[in-house]
Amino acid sequence: MPNSLIIAIDGPSGAGKSSVSRAVATELGLDYLDTGSMYRAMTWFMQNSGVDISNSQLVAQTARAEVIQPSIDPSEPGIRVDGRDVSIEIRSAEVTQGVSAVSAVPEVRELMVNLQREIAANSSTGIVVEGRDICAVVLPDAPVRLFITADPQARANRRAKENGSEVTQTQSDLEKRDLADSTRAVSPLEVAPGARVIDTTYMELTDVIAQVIDIARAARG
Ligand code: DC
Repeated sequence: MPNSLIIAIDGPSGAGKSSVSRAVATELGLDYLDTGSMYRAMTWFMQNSGVDISNSQLVAQTARAEVIQPSIDPSEPGIRVDGRDVSIEIRSAEVTQGVSAVSAVPEVRELMVNLQREIAANSSTGIVVEGRDICAVVLPDAPVRLFITADPQARANRRAKENGSEVTQTQSDLEKRDLADSTRAVSPLEVAPGARVIDTTYMELTDVIAQVIDIARAARG
């Protein structure tokens, strides 16, 4: 595989993006970057520093890229904030509720996008990068650009099963976050021009993984 194989994967929460991205990275021997975890870690950093995250000016002033330290090992995903492992904390309800506001702040996005590009450029193996704006903004020249999605009910069912939460509430939370993510002014969640859409509503995870691996192998030639 050439060193530069970059696979960009976007899509809404619960579509199976993370599981697929990790499995594909592992199978092809690539690095793996979960950019959602970076926005979550930034949100945790703000909340832990006592910043009122509804104050976007304050969020912009407090944001720093150096404190966000993601793992790029698909077998050990996780993230540190200034050396502290916050991989569990970033999945809390408080962070999940705050992350749309923090990730909508343009200064935060600029810092994270630059860091994501730097990590991808420094990867010696090639990398799978997953998020919301990877195909359109972060890595528009990636040879593989995918949008993995599923209908809201299927996504809520999967999330509820993963988290042991109640389906109706999970679906309503997901739809709220979809709406916030897809209507924000900067880099809204949308299918980038030229990205290939994979609808996983009626697919098994293993079939999605196999399909993405086929696409990646075809791209590598
Ligand atoms: O994938 P996730 O649910 O962990 O993402 C958390 C939040 O971060 C989500 O509400 C959207 C935001 N996000 C973003 O704005 N841009 C990205 N590239 C990745 C995630």
